[in-house]
Amino acid sequence: MSVSSWPGLKALAAQQGSLRQAFAEDPTRAEQFSTQACGITLDYSKNLINRQSWQALQQLAAQSRIKPVLNAMLAGEKINNTEQRSVWHMMLRKTDVSGLMLDGENIGDAIHDCRKRMTALVSQLHNGEYLGYTGKTITDLIWVGIGGSLLGPQMAVEALTPYHCSPVRLHFAGNIDGAVVSDIVKGLNPATTLVFVASKSFGTEETKQNALAIRQWFKDHGADGAAIARHFWATSSNISAATEFGIVEQNILPMWDWVGGRYSLWSAIGFPVALMIGNAHFAELLKGAEAMDTHFTEAPFSDNLPLILALLGIWYINGFGCQAQALLPYSHYLRLLPSYVQQLDMESNGKSVDVNGVAVTDATAPVIWGDAGTNGQHAYHQLLHQSALAVPADFILPVKPAHKLSDQHQRLAAHCFAQTQALMQGKTLDEATEECLAAGMSGAEAAVLAPHKVSPGNKPSNTLLLPELSPYYLGALIAMYEHKVFCQGVLWNINSFDQWGVELGKQLSGPIYQALSGAAADKLDSSTRALIKVFTEQK
Ligand code: F6P
Repeated sequence: MSVSSWPGLKALAAQQGSLRQAFAEDPTRAEQFSTQACGITLDYSKNLINRQSWQALQQLAAQSRIKPVLNAMLAGEKINNTEQRSVWHMMLRKTDVSGLMLDGENIGDAIHDCRKRMTALVSQLHNGEYLGYTGKTITDLIWVGIGGSLLGPQMAVEALTPYHCSPVRLHFAGNIDGAVVSDIVKGLNPATTLVFVASKSFGTEETKQNALAIRQWFKDHGADGAAIARHFWATSSNISAATEFGIVEQNILPMWDWVGGRYSLWSAIGFPVALMIGNAHFAELLKGAEAMDTHFTEAPFSDNLPLILALLGIWYINGFGCQAQALLPYSHYLRLLPSYVQQLDMESNGKSVDVNGVAVTDATAPVIWGDAGTNGQHAYHQLLHQSALAVPADFILPVKPAHKLSDQHQRLAAHCFAQTQALMQGKTLDEATEECLAAGMSGAEAAVLAPHKVSPGNKPSNTLLLPELSPYYLGALIAMYEHKVFCQGVLWNINSFDQWGVELGKQLSGPIYQALSGAAADKLDSSTRALIKVFTEQK
């Protein structure tokens, strides 16, 4: 049965009263609808739920296949059925991986070995022991990758800025736009630059083209094959493609088909994070994620952070017809989190058929968007407060700042909490009128302005408080969103671990590239042909 047709879902949604009233009537509301796990506090009391609807949502979870699918995932079953792959990213953050076997292979040893190699390379780079082809110490590292091979490390490196301790500078190259690589290499010297080509498939065009451009830059500076072999590393599961490119086998860190790209931060794809924050802190990141895994797999549904978030998401998408979800970190350092969760959520659950290939009748993943607070308050929060659109929002705030401007941090927190309060309670016409009169307006003037000041309120939000933005809590936070996405995928009965939709654009870009290079375009539609013509004429 689809979630939307689940008895009572829409009826219950239609019956939800005013949040302002719910708070006024029940002083224990916040206590009732909040929980804590792995140090993360979740206050979900400002959601359009009451005891009855929350119980019903809990029942939906209890009757779902979340537990059996979770067990199947943990047992290594190929729950990514369209690619016949296990989904074992959780194993990557296990402290004790000894004896982990999958399909007769000792995965525990493989993970252990990979960690050892990562740690050794980080140490070598930190100690200035890794020398380039002219005998100079490495000063810069270019990480070439895209999607899951870029967004995770980029977000985590940014989030953990206060922990940076690397003498080696890091540069990310993702977009195929030549501006990226051109700008990066401008200030660099190939003799002191290490390049990491991060691509599980080693077939992604953007990554390949950027890697080729960088390799050419090395050659232009006189680097020969041996020099390139010394300076190029890869993280890939396609060893033959990587070696064909010129990367020697001992410089290839593994990736495995049981780790999806958007779930791969915990593997060698996390190398840039380990480089920037050091090995011990990287281990903390894994520990935080592992703690969330334990919470997710063991906590009852009523206290289960990822499950609670998943149910609320389902409630809004399928009960209220919401199509978007805002992610609003009140932390400058977490400003890339929305783009990271965008891929995690939208690439995982933006599907239209279920695991059996049958059309899903439920709306699935929301449009995830957002940016760091308070910047958004002066941009799109206006829409959150007063437009007819309902956009549930997650507000995320680290309690302890990583800087000494504690008063500013307190102001940041005040804004964060005020936003959730304003969204919840809104402002009535009476309140707006009173405000205008108090400001010295005449009754007539107040009557004109007051309607513009009205905010409907009843806009749902979650507030997530992290004790601090440390590697541990970041790991827990990311794992929490991973599991939320998993639960929703199971509730919609879709495969959250494939991404066939992104293939079409890749396929079509081939013939278009040929046409842009002079090949016949007559098989293309008239719009594409016309665009190619203008591009060709103007280039
Ligand atoms: O764009 C789709 C995608 O396949 C993502 O799922 C993946 O994270 C990204 O491309 C990069 O893939 P790869 O690591 O194989 O280069």
